[in-house]
Amino acid sequence: MLYRVRMHRWTQSFAVLITCVVAFVAMPLQQDAFMNPSSPTYAMAQMTTTSLDQLIPMPVSIKATGENFTLTADTKIVVDPDSAALTTLGQQLAAMLQPATGYEVPVTDAAPHEGNIRLSMMDTDTTLGDEGYTLTIRTDGVAISAAQPAGIFYGLQTLRQLLPAAIEAKTLQQGVAWDVPTATIRDYPRFAWRGTMLDVARHFFGVEDVKRYIDYLALYKINRLHLHLSDDQGWRIEIKSWPKLTEIGGSKEVGGGEGGYYTQADYAEIVDYAAQHFITIVPEIDMPGHTNAALASYAELNCDGKARELYTGTNVGFSTLCADKEVTYQFMEDVIRELAAMTPGAYIHIGGDESSATKHEDYLKMVERAQAMVAAQGKQAVGWEEIARVKLLPTTLVQNWNNNNLTQEAVKQGAKIIMSPAKKTYIDMKYDPSTKLGLNWAAYIEVLDAYQWDPAEMLPGVNDEDIAGVEAPLWSETTQTLDDIEFLAFPRLAGHAEIGWSPADGRSWDEYKVRLGAQAARFAALGIDFYRAPSVPWQ
Ligand code: ACM
Repeated sequence: MLYRVRMHRWTQSFAVLITCVVAFVAMPLQQDAFMNPSSPTYAMAQMTTTSLDQLIPMPVSIKATGENFTLTADTKIVVDPDSAALTTLGQQLAAMLQPATGYEVPVTDAAPHEGNIRLSMMDTDTTLGDEGYTLTIRTDGVAISAAQPAGIFYGLQTLRQLLPAAIEAKTLQQGVAWDVPTATIRDYPRFAWRGTMLDVARHFFGVEDVKRYIDYLALYKINRLHLHLSDDQGWRIEIKSWPKLTEIGGSKEVGGGEGGYYTQADYAEIVDYAAQHFITIVPEIDMPGHTNAALASYAELNCDGKARELYTGTNVGFSTLCADKEVTYQFMEDVIRELAAMTPGAYIHIGGDESSATKHEDYLKMVERAQAMVAAQGKQAVGWEEIARVKLLPTTLVQNWNNNNLTQEAVKQGAKIIMSPAKKTYIDMKYDPSTKLGLNWAAYIEVLDAYQWDPAEMLPGVNDEDIAGVEAPLWSETTQTLDDIEFLAFPRLAGHAEIGWSPADGRSWDEYKVRLGAQAARFAALGIDFYRAPSVPWQ
């Protein structure tokens, strides 16, 4: 074992040496690469050993200049005059920097840029899009500029990763030099949808857990949190017109323990917190299958008029809403209306997966009506790939997970696809047979397997322009605590975040694993209980 580790380090040092020589010879090429925004900068990661080599997701381009900016007790955050959005972002940055440094880092619009951190939405490069940014770090100051607040936010996340990992500590860290390597970074995402899903139905997770998870997602520039709010085992969102959904349907979870649910006020708190982190909450009510919790709450939703027992096992495919009853559509309409009213984001997810207990024609009728109800509320419907069986509205998004034919059918109908192939992105799958948590019905997914894939190369006929983005779902049959979630999500989720954000060209496991290994200190400082994959050179 020791021998293997030594070999590994040696091989790495040799690789660094070779890369440095090649990089020196290719210096002018590098500059060209910087000028061309589509040229990725992965090759740089081995060149030096500063935090510029540790960024995840990898930015589109990095031009390193070899010195440092040092954050001191005098550093201020300077924002454009009269910009409430920038003042808020500046305060967020200050709140991030204060605990570990002990510095005040005041936000002001009346200080010079020299020596300070400037956030600006003036005179910016609009070709970077709504989420892109430029981050310029010089010895005499830092500047983040972007066309939109989201871009500034992502620039801040990059700056955060360039600071020593100790910046993540919630208590004063003595004797740390708060250095940031000088560079110009120009960056924007490949995909608009960079998501993860949390199943709060099989096991329930409270508001504080979800907020903590959101903190982690933001660091890796993830911008969608899909909440799987209902399933056979639990109904987790208060619907005022159908109160028994949560009173009865929310009372249990897998294994028979006490469940739980979000009041509408809880949900608003999550939505607000997510919005501060530029994350859109995508709420899912799964139907017409995966509905036992609703069928247990209201007898009239069952075709036979008899309420079902609450279910605390982990089977799928046995429950269905009743297509022949008008009350079914009243229920769907009320739920979608209340959910849309409390959801500022553009999307309502209507599920649609694994409805084996639903007759084909009933499935078509119920999903088509659910889709129309979402549109009537001014929202875009999202559904699992099975919904490609129905006639899709032009705005509907389809989430690939398991069936390539259905996903291809969705593309033929003109739908954009969210790529969540189970064998790659299901972060509830075990890493290997020895993993205690998780399932393995789709695959064992080592960190390497989770990283080595490309959304546009999974399916013939499903190309870059058909893809809205990437989402990594975490089903919670086996996860009971935030620690459990952390162990399955990290480090795989960081890789999915990179696949969603960074250019595909030049991506490689050998390069990535070094950057990933450097995240260990940051995960530790954040208190993330991550899986130490043996294939990663953890630092
Ligand atoms: C799914 O995994 N049933 C979408």
